[in-house]
Amino acid sequence: MKKLIIGNFKMNQTPEESKAYFTKFVAGFNGNRADVVLCPSYLSLPVATFLAKGSPVKLGAQNVSDEEEGSFTGEVSAQMLKNLGVEYVIVGHSDRRNKFKESDRLVNKKIKTALKNGLKCVLCVGESLADRNTGKTFDVIRHQIEEGVRGLYENELESVIIAYEPIWAIGTGQNASVKDVENAAKVIRKVIFESYSEKASRDIQVIYGGSLNEKNVGALLNCAGIDGGLFGRISLNVNLFLDIANNLK
Ligand code: PGA
Repeated sequence: MKKLIIGNFKMNQTPEESKAYFTKFVAGFNGNRADVVLCPSYLSLPVATFLAKGSPVKLGAQNVSDEEEGSFTGEVSAQMLKNLGVEYVIVGHSDRRNKFKESDRLVNKKIKTALKNGLKCVLCVGESLADRNTGKTFDVIRHQIEEGVRGLYENELESVIIAYEPIWAIGTGQNASVKDVENAAKVIRKVIFESYSEKASRDIQVIYGGSLNEKNVGALLNCAGIDGGLFGRISLNVNLFLDIANNLK
């Protein structure tokens, strides 16, 4: 099966810069080795969906409202994203959990609203350095998953991807080891097994994110139990990211 490669551009790129990026990426992406989802800012999504139309490049948003519509100044709804041609949304990224104080409860509500509107959700989970140093890694992951998928039916998990993103590895240049990633994937699948079924634990897509680059991508994406990767900084470099997506082993 092809690996899933997701690029999270975070708060980078003007729409003009995205136009140049997507023009190049769409022309250069071969789709042979990976499925690619690119997540530019909300403002770049219109030009990105336009340029990616008819190509294997898929679009994701970095955030979504937990509400359907109405008086929520500054928010963007799942329906608006879906209507634009967006297929994925990142939920529970540590930037949002930590800098915007998003709770597990809010993450769960966002997932439910997004799924209801036909979007796929990338649920990010991962421990802080303090959690890791005090041996709490697996408890934190377990808790974030249980709360994140609370109330979902098993068939809805087909539209949920779980991204293991240890906070200490994000944007630090210090990626998790193969052993860390394999252990986390095991725990993630165990939690799904206990809450749902053996089949669900096998079928759910689990990916890794945190300082992925052209050198460590081969080892980390081929870890047991890992179906792909979530890239931050590296995904902004169109040539490098194209090379990774086209030539993944
Ligand atoms: P990074 O970001 O690749 O720059 O570490 C990953 C992420 O935040 O998803």
